[in-house]
Amino acid sequence: MTRKLFVTTALPYANAPFHLGHIMEYIQADIWVRHQRMSGHEVNFVCADDAHGAPIMIAAEKAGLTPQEFVGQIAAGRKQYLDGFHIQFDNWHSTDGAENHELSQDIYRKLKAAGFITSKTIEQFYDPVKNMFLPDRYIKGECPKCGAKDQYGDSCEVCSAVYAPTELKNPYSVLTGATPIMKSSEHFFFKLSDEKCVEFLRGWALQDNRLQSEVANKCKEWLEGEGGLGDWDISRDAPYFGIEIPDQPGKYFYVWLDAPVGYLASLKNYFNKTGKDFDAFMADPKTEQIHFIGKDITYFHTLFWPAMLKFSGYKTPDNVYAHGFVTVSGEKMSKSRGTGISPLRYLDIGMNPEWLRYYFAAKLNAKVEDLDMNPDDFVARVNSDLIGKYINIASRAAGFITKRFDGKVNTTWATADDAFLQNLRAVTTEIQALYEAREFGKALRAVMEQADVINAYVDANKPWELAKQEGNEAKLQEVCSRLLEAFRILTIFLKPVLPHLASQVEAQLNIGALQWADVYAPLPNQHQINPYVHLMQRVDPLIFDQLFDAPAAAESTAAAATATPSIEPLADEIKIDDFAKVDLRIAKIVNCEHVEGSDKLLRLTLDVGEGKTRNVFSGIKSAYQPEQLIGKFTVMVANLAPRKMKFGISEGMVLAASAADEKTNPGLYILEAWPGAEPGMRVR
Ligand code: 2FM
Ligand code: ZN
Repeated sequence: MTRKLFVTTALPYANAPFHLGHIMEYIQADIWVRHQRMSGHEVNFVCADDAHGAPIMIAAEKAGLTPQEFVGQIAAGRKQYLDGFHIQFDNWHSTDGAENHELSQDIYRKLKAAGFITSKTIEQFYDPVKNMFLPDRYIKGECPKCGAKDQYGDSCEVCSAVYAPTELKNPYSVLTGATPIMKSSEHFFFKLSDEKCVEFLRGWALQDNRLQSEVANKCKEWLEGEGGLGDWDISRDAPYFGIEIPDQPGKYFYVWLDAPVGYLASLKNYFNKTGKDFDAFMADPKTEQIHFIGKDITYFHTLFWPAMLKFSGYKTPDNVYAHGFVTVSGEKMSKSRGTGISPLRYLDIGMNPEWLRYYFAAKLNAKVEDLDMNPDDFVARVNSDLIGKYINIASRAAGFITKRFDGKVNTTWATADDAFLQNLRAVTTEIQALYEAREFGKALRAVMEQADVINAYVDANKPWELAKQEGNEAKLQEVCSRLLEAFRILTIFLKPVLPHLASQVEAQLNIGALQWADVYAPLPNQHQINPYVHLMQRVDPLIFDQLFDAPAAAESTAAAATATPSIEPLADEIKIDDFAKVDLRIAKIVNCEHVEGSDKLLRLTLDVGEGKTRNVFSGIKSAYQPEQLIGKFTVMVANLAPRKMKFGISEGMVLAASAADEKTNPGLYILEAWPGAEPGMRVR
């Protein structure tokens, strides 16, 4: 029976490029999806950017962009990762798309009509300068327990105390530094505590084979814990980047309400584009809805999301599969410790994406376990197993078929009872079942056991010796043909993990796209293959030196350890082309003076070798007297759009260094060029 599958991965926030954890999740889901497709099932595999929420709104504002422009830029960067790692979503959409606005509002209206929405007036911290309510993470202050300064609104990083933001001493807004005031406002709640809801969730979450046992146990705790489920606050006040709540001007859905609806929205968008009927698909009892997620967001996916769907009359998820985090050599990935891995860097330095797919698959299972990436282990699995065992088979056999037999296989044995190949085919159902159960590590171990058997056949029959012996041509052709048939079957076994390699093998064997059913359809006798070209390189262990981020300088000395708070984390990686857009020039400061009415700015007159001077306002008054700067050579951004300021137009920007945290180091240090640099020279 053909299955109808709707599969998703968690929607990533549209405020940063993908990290390795995203890629791991997508690879996990992609392998499962490819396995289903190879079985002939219908799969609709979608994802989208999670575009809404206060952090994205604020980040956009900082970047001088509208939230739409901001998330648009992030979205534009997605394809290179997905294509790069052979992750084959059918659709990538955004939670800010029209479908999501409609669906979220529709779900809300239905929940409301069914009596599951209530409202309450609550008091919250409010930034009186920015005129907005402050999410907990935008409030800092002194820990009520240990007095540590600059702690977040929900917990203390020094003593680990957990508290409400209202308990902080001397709270301040992270956005403006202002002291927040308490302000009340009406909020909307989803009645998760409703008896009907709790009862439904108990049945849903504890149904056999729906959730992993660890996750089901967690749900049980949440449902039966003290006080049970609380109602869920689903509204936020303007200003907010999100979806407006119907008939409630100035109120928006909290991002976690519309984010999972984005799964449906992306599917709907895909169906609209391809002429399929979304409503019919969702109403079909055969449709299976499956979500792959990280372990940190199970609460949202196993309580809120099924309840929202249930009581708005939509289909509820069939399975939610949670995975753990990626660690590197046993530790959480960290840029400063030099264990950060950028997926783009991985591709840029020429590492093969299928090494990573294979490695992740080899370490993945159906449990909610963290996955450790360890360079030595990576090299061993790729070089010894993938290449040493699997690729080796083709490289032993294909060359002889090409050189000695005009590329033609002899498979007349295929009709006879052939234990060697029969045994290989016999593990197919076991391997399929392991893919189905997301036990990819076990599946690959089973494949490698078969590869061992085939390699033993290679060693027992030594094609390279047969090739030297006269009169053994028929035997050589038979041995190599069997090996190619075995290799073809192994390729099917590995295809969900190694789709690109499999397509190279298909080209080389001169056959169509392999499906599971092809295990039982051997190469026809006298089938002609294409000349052998080597399929995959080994990993050079030294490449890991290029892969890892250099440890942040500040952490490499013990003395700096206490001063690290003043060093900003590195910005996202850019390409050389991005850097080339910034036109930096040597500028001579020909004049410098105070700006009347400003306690921050100095007015600089700069010679950038253009035959005229430029006027630039710079916020460095706290650090320099005008006369200290006159005659110096510095560096300026020469192609910055002119900016109209209160005191006149600023035609560029000079570069100066400063600490992230002005409290620990209030200094400002303007850059100075070495002698010999001339005004107008480009800095690169
Ligand atoms: O945790 C996150 O990264 C969220 N953006 C996941 C959302 S998943 C779904 F609900 F959209
Ligand atoms: Zn504390």
